[in-house]
Amino acid sequence: MNYTENMTSKDMVKEKNADLQKDVNIGLKKPDRKRVATGLSHLLADTYALMIKTHNYHWNVTGPMFKQIHELTEEQYNEMFEAIDEIAERIRALGFIAPGSLGAFSELTQIRSGNSEWGAAEMIQDLVNSHETLVRTARGITEAASYMDDEATADLLTNRLGVHEKYIWMLRSFLK
Ligand SMILES: [Fe+2]
Repeated sequence: MNYTENMTSKDMVKEKNADLQKDVNIGLKKPDRKRVATGLSHLLADTYALMIKTHNYHWNVTGPMFKQIHELTEEQYNEMFEAIDEIAERIRALGFIAPGSLGAFSELTQIRSGNSEWGAAEMIQDLVNSHETLVRTARGITEAASYMDDEATADLLTNRLGVHEKYIWMLRSFLK
């Protein structure tokens, strides 16, 4: 074996090892992991977009309910900020790249941008609609996660569903 061939085979082994290290081996099939990770990327984008919108309304809401809405939205965007980290890290644990730019998020999300000039009731109704959209995104992934026995993702989703469904109730109570 000459020098070049020797280097080539070594390189091949090195490459193979790198490939093996790149892929996670946690007892979940790659296509299933990919399906769940893709779903989580949509949830990540929805959560990010809704966090920004919630911040927008925290700043720009006006009217007699200002203080209550200002405080509730602060609590909600802080919680969502922590959630995006958890969702992104779950995508990484499944062996995939987590999207992390405004461009990627705007392509992946179903949440529409808000309107800073709306009145308080319109803002609240818009937040309710957005949380409902996000809940539907999360519910869609639950099925895939349960199907492949991905309990960690299922746990995360159960938690996210509980939080957003509670926010829907809290926000709706301003509209009665
Ligand atoms: Fe603030």
